[in-house]
Amino acid sequence: MLNPWVSTSFVDYENIVNEFGIENFSDILGSIESPARLMKRGVVFSHRDFGKMVPLINGKKDFAVMTGMMPSGQMHIGHKMVVDQLKWYFDKGGFLSLSIADMEAYAARGISFKEGRDIAVREYLSNYIALGLDLTDDNVNVYLQSENKLLNDLTYKLSKKTNFNQLKAIYGFDQSTNMAHLYAPLIQVADILLPQLEEYGGPKDVVVPVGIDQDPHIRLTRDIAAKLKEEYGFITPSSTYHRFLTGLTGDKMSSSKPKTAIYLNESPEEAEKKVKSAKTGGRESLKEQKELGGRPDECVIYEMLVYHLIDSDEELDSIHEECCAGTLLCGDCKRRTAELMREMFEELKVKQEDSLEVAETLFD
Ligand code: TRP
Ligand code: SF4
Repeated sequence: MLNPWVSTSFVDYENIVNEFGIENFSDILGSIESPARLMKRGVVFSHRDFGKMVPLINGKKDFAVMTGMMPSGQMHIGHKMVVDQLKWYFDKGGFLSLSIADMEAYAARGISFKEGRDIAVREYLSNYIALGLDLTDDNVNVYLQSENKLLNDLTYKLSKKTNFNQLKAIYGFDQSTNMAHLYAPLIQVADILLPQLEEYGGPKDVVVPVGIDQDPHIRLTRDIAAKLKEEYGFITPSSTYHRFLTGLTGDKMSSSKPKTAIYLNESPEEAEKKVKSAKTGGRESLKEQKELGGRPDECVIYEMLVYHLIDSDEELDSIHEECCAGTLLCGDCKRRTAELMREMFEELKVKQEDSLEVAETLFD
């Protein structure tokens, strides 16, 4: 069982695909016109029911993309993956619905609504904007869970379609679980179904790009959506799952562990320094590296290049090849990667100057 509220450090992606009955993304990749970078590169590795979204996206037809973020801790480069995907869907004409899960943060992390709102604006929304998402566009709806009346009404209504036994089976809740926590997944189900309400244009296909730890919520949503089909006309939502970004130490990148993460509010110099501290797939000695080659597929540095820093597929391939051949050495490779990261952060800093101001107006 995957527990969405406890971070796992190691995920066996192959087994997950087999065990959960989710589908491999590679099977449908070929049908997508100009796929997002993270799709092409296998970072988005699986999905539920995404096949039906493809013609809508290719044809720029009516669809929505939705996701949510719990405002706790700081935004790091791992979170950027979601923004990159949202941007891609938005450019394909999708309606973007973005939930700030302040009720979940209250239930699961003890963060007050006031704090949640502040963290959301300062850490998340300002960075979403700085990373290139125009959250003020008419085709976007950003909301705080605690302030959305439609959302809370929908949560209450759909709660009738599930019961304690189902939530216990999915999340491992027990009799000591507090009721707010018990309610949190139901709010998330409502988040996912919200864009299909008449107020937001009525039933439509919705895709939810998330990390695999969120799959329990997706399964629950799909189940409840089917039960409400007649009453609301809901279409069962689709989802995609991306890999986690590995932390600098080789474990999962985590907001609460500064040694594992590069935060988006850090300075370009700090980001550069952190890249240089990252675990590589290099060998013990220079001699060995030259003889055996490095292991890019187990290297945090290479992962940064794949996820964030290199646009050209050819260039990436040649780094992979040279690493395996032992002609590229970790010192040089790290220095170059650190420099690219610093440049990315320098650009971000410039954008952040205005983006906080815009973010502050979103909930007025
Ligand atoms: N539970 C998610 C998290 O822990 C946040 C979230 C809330 C969410 N509502 C959502 C994610 C709807 C996807 C869809 O980060
Ligand atoms: Fe990683 Fe680069 Fe070293 Fe290869 S050469 S193991 S990609 S740091």
